[in-house]
Amino acid sequence: MFEKPRGTRDFTPPETAKHRFVERAFRRTAESYGFREILTPTFETVELFKARSGPGIIDEMFTFTDKGGRELALRPEFTASVIRFYLSDLRSAPKPLKVFTLGNCFRYEEPQKGRYREFFQWNCEIIGGPSLEADAEVIALADAGLKSVGVKKTEMRIGYIGMLRKYLDFPPEVQAKLLHLLDKKRMEELEKAMTDIGAVDKCEKVCSVALLKGDGEVLDQAERLLGDAAKESVDYLRRLGKQLALYGLEDFVYDLGVVRGLDYYTGMVFEIDSPNLGAEKQVGGGGAYSLADILGGEAAISTGFAVGVDRIVLAAEQEDVKMTPSPLDAYVIPIGLSMRAKAFEILKKLRVEGLAADIDLVGRGPSKNLDYANSIGALHCVLVGEKETAKGLVALRDMQTGKQAEVKVESLTDALRSAKRQSIK
Ligand code: HAM
Repeated sequence: MFEKPRGTRDFTPPETAKHRFVERAFRRTAESYGFREILTPTFETVELFKARSGPGIIDEMFTFTDKGGRELALRPEFTASVIRFYLSDLRSAPKPLKVFTLGNCFRYEEPQKGRYREFFQWNCEIIGGPSLEADAEVIALADAGLKSVGVKKTEMRIGYIGMLRKYLDFPPEVQAKLLHLLDKKRMEELEKAMTDIGAVDKCEKVCSVALLKGDGEVLDQAERLLGDAAKESVDYLRRLGKQLALYGLEDFVYDLGVVRGLDYYTGMVFEIDSPNLGAEKQVGGGGAYSLADILGGEAAISTGFAVGVDRIVLAAEQEDVKMTPSPLDAYVIPIGLSMRAKAFEILKKLRVEGLAADIDLVGRGPSKNLDYANSIGALHCVLVGEKETAKGLVALRDMQTGKQAEVKVESLTDALRSAKRQSIK
């Protein structure tokens, strides 16, 4: 017996159905916001992610050397790949470029509920958009994506990392280290690190700002604490709040302690939590970032986010959202061997007409077949018997009500379609 690698999962048909339900909702929502789907490789050169993802991600990468001696990594996220793709092939596309991806990512983390080594992300980016409008658009899209699944109990926290970067105006590696400690809320280590660089006087203020969370009032408080270093950021957040109101989005808090685990963010940053999920409650996050220039291209204003599909499935389960798979429209049962050819003819027609249909492959008797159809959640059974087919009829059994009626073979597709419409209503 082989075991699957730690932190990976197999998905049963019902689990897969939930996963796909969420992905379908995300795909539809992104498309309704004018985003187009792209695909990028599952593995990339290690250098791509080392460029600016930050220590948090670099330490967690699955890396390997291929037969040609190249250092490669399974993607820990999509943003670096999207920007690499933009720089190589999509640079001349009309702006703003709005793209999304759906797929698996890999991080060598300590597995627990909601935290896996292989997990799935819905990732959306706007490249080359006006920053305020694009920031509001991605926040609104993330919010709409969760609502389209039916997940309602979430908390959206919006901050501005540019403010902390401006105040902690140290060389990039030092700043990255301080922000990492702030992100992990390791305040004692932060104080020590700031003492070591002779900046302990700034520590108290930065910690106070990072604790500010609430309505517009916290923006005034930040301005009072940091003075000029906060002015631009605070003004931006006030204007962003007004822009979000145009989407009807008012249900968020400002949280000036949002630091994010990745190193490339420069301006607005946001995170979404599902308080129902315990330790791994962060279902999504993103913000404005600068990566095109770091990856060797011309600077391009970019903003985006990723939502964890796995965590949204968990959140949806907690909120009793029905994530039902598309059920089988018809299970065809030949009554006796002599009816198999006719049954296959009917099956073929249903499939060609776009209905989901299956047939008894093992030659079970009718009652065992009805049990099987029930267990796989078929909406109807089509019983193909000798007497009925001689009259051009089949028996159509509604598996929910148990009612059975004879219908003409040529009207079978219509009957199944109209039953489906009724069940959706
Ligand atoms: P991130 O915050 O690292 O951002 O990941 C986004 C989401 O992916 C998290 O909020 C979480 O729901 C999910 N996630 C992360 N790690 C795991 C894991 N080990 N197991 C299960 N779910 C996980 C990014 O990846 C950025 N690239 C987002 C972005 C796009 N920023 C700008 N554009």
